[in-house]
Amino acid sequence: MGSKSYPTVSDEYLAAVGKAKRKLRGLIAEKNCAPLMLRLAWHSAGTFDVSSRTGGPFGTMKNPGEQSHAANAGLDIAVRLLDPIKDQLPILSYADFYQLAGVVAVEVTGGPEVPFHPGRQDKPEPPPEGRLPDATQGSDHLRQVFSAQMGLSDKDIVALSGGHTLVASHSLFPCMLKNENQNLLSINSELVSGEKEGLLQLPSDKALMADPAFRPLVEKYAADEDAFFADYAEAHLKLSELGHVEPTYQPSIDVLELHISNELNGCPGAYSEAAAKKAYPSCHTVPCEYFETAFQAVENWVADRAVLPLENSLGGSIHRNYDLLLRHRLHIVGEVRLAVRHCLLANRGVKIQNLRSAMSHPQALAQCEQTLTKLGIEHREAVDDTAGAAKLIAEQKLQDTGAVASSLAAQLYGLDILAENIQDDTDNVTRFMMLAREPIIPRTDKPFKTSIVFSLEEGPGQLFKALAVFALRKINLTKMESRPHKKKPLRIADDNCSAPLKHFDYLFYVDLEASMADPNAQNALANLKEFATFLRVLGSYPTDVSEA
Ligand code: HEM
Repeated sequence: MGSKSYPTVSDEYLAAVGKAKRKLRGLIAEKNCAPLMLRLAWHSAGTFDVSSRTGGPFGTMKNPGEQSHAANAGLDIAVRLLDPIKDQLPILSYADFYQLAGVVAVEVTGGPEVPFHPGRQDKPEPPPEGRLPDATQGSDHLRQVFSAQMGLSDKDIVALSGGHTLVASHSLFPCMLKNENQNLLSINSELVSGEKEGLLQLPSDKALMADPAFRPLVEKYAADEDAFFADYAEAHLKLSELGHVEPTYQPSIDVLELHISNELNGCPGAYSEAAAKKAYPSCHTVPCEYFETAFQAVENWVADRAVLPLENSLGGSIHRNYDLLLRHRLHIVGEVRLAVRHCLLANRGVKIQNLRSAMSHPQALAQCEQTLTKLGIEHREAVDDTAGAAKLIAEQKLQDTGAVASSLAAQLYGLDILAENIQDDTDNVTRFMMLAREPIIPRTDKPFKTSIVFSLEEGPGQLFKALAVFALRKINLTKMESRPHKKKPLRIADDNCSAPLKHFDYLFYVDLEASMADPNAQNALANLKEFATFLRVLGSYPTDVSEA
C-alpha cells in the first residue's frame, strides 16, 4: 500500500498556518459561521475529478466565477469574511487557507480533530460547473459524485454527510441521528419523513437510509460516536487532500483482499487473502473494508491488483461485484478457484468439549451446521466475518467459544485448530477474479476464458439469438447469469460524468471458454454487437486449471 509523502514547507509558512488557525478560531466563534466555513472547504474540494485530475481544494473558490456556480450560493460571503485574515498572511496559499478554515470549523463545533498538512498550491482555473452533488438525487448519484468522480468510498459518503448536523445545531455530530432515547427506529422514521427539525433532512441524506450499503453505516454511527468521529476525521482528511499528494507507488505487487461474503470488515486471514496468495504467492496483501474501495485503490494506483469474490458454488454469484465491474474501468486479468475449508479454532488449551458456542459469519456457520452439532456445540454467534471471529476470540481470550474460520486465521491470531474441514458439503468452492488497470494480452496457446456482459431488446427469441452466436461457432459457455435491472439504472464507467443513467431490462453475464485472441470468438462478439443494446468485454484471462 502506498504512503503519502507531503511537501515540505518553510518554518515561516508553518508559523503562518499556526497564526491563521488562531485567527480562524476567533472569526468562526465571533461570527458563528462554522457551517459556512465547512461548506466552503467542502465545495472547494468536492469538485475534484480523479480521472482528469482537475478541480479540487486548490483555492479557486476565490474566483467570482466559481462563487457564482448555483451550488455555491452564499460562499461569496465566506470568502469576504476570510479575506481580511488572508490579507494579513500573504504567504499562505488560498488552497491551504480554505481547507484550514474547514478543519477549524469542525474543531470549533466540538467535532473530531482533522489533521492538516499544508503545501497545496493554488490552481489558476476554476473547475467547470456541475461537479458537486445535487441534493434532489438518490444514492446512485451520490456514488457517482463521491466515488466515481472524487474517488471516495461509501463510508466516506456517510461519514461526511454528518457535516449537515452543523446546519441546525452548530454543534457537530453528537446529535446526529440520535433523539433523546437514542432509539434508531424512531430516528429512522423521522429521517425518512423529515419531520424532526435539526436532523438530516435533505433528500440526499434520506437516500442514505434507503440504500442497503449506506444504511448499516448510518446505524453504526448512530450507535457509536467514537467510530463516527474517527471515520469522519479520516473522510474529511481525504476530502481536504484530494489531488494534494499522491500516494508513493511501491513497485511490489500489492493485492487488496476482501472477505468472501461480506463487504464490511475484511480482516486479515479472510479466505480472499488465501485466494490472493494462491494467485500471487509473494504478494503483499492489504485488507479492504469495501469491495468498492478495492476497485478505487487499483484505479488510483495505490495497489496493482484487486482480488474479489465473484461466485460461490453454494451461494451463487456476488452481484455487487458485477455491478461494480460495470461502474469502474478495471479489467479481469485472471481467476482463481479456492476450496473453502473451514476449521474450528479455539484458544490454546481449550478442548472441543469445553466449547458451548461457535462464532463466525452466518454463511460459514450454516455451511458447518451439522458438523458443529455432531461435535456437541449448541450455540451459534454470528459476526461480520470469519477472520473477525478468530480475532475476537483471541483478543477476548474466550474459553467456551470457538471460531469457524480458515487455517490462516489460526496462524495469524495464535489459535489452535481443533478440527479441520468441518463444512458439511465438501464441494464448497469460491471463484475470485483478479482486476487490473490494464487488460492482459489474450493468448491462444493455453486455456483462456472471456467474461462479457450484454443487454438485449425485449422480445421473443432475442436471448436465443444471442446464445446462437456462440453455439454456431462451437464456443462453450461456462457460466450464464441474468440480472433484472428495470428499476435500477446504472451509469457505465466509459460514459462521461454528465451522461444519463442507463436503464437495462436485463443484463446477461456470460463466461465463454474462448480467448479474445481467437478470431472465432471475435466474430461471435461482432455478431452479437449487431443486435445487442449494450455489450462489454470484462476481460479475457487464463482459466484457473489448478486444483481448488
Ligand atoms: C452528500 C452530498 C451533499 C449534498 C447533496 C449537500 C447539499 C446541501 C444543501 C442543498 C445545503 C443547503 C445550502 C443552502 O443553504 O442553500 C447544504 C448545506 C450544508 N452542507 Fe451540504 N451537501 C452534501 C454534502 C456535504 C458535506 C460532505 C459537507 C461537509 C462535510 C456538507 C456541509 C454542509 C454545511 C456545513 C451546510 C450548511 C451551510 C450553511 O448553513 O451555511 N455538505 N448542503
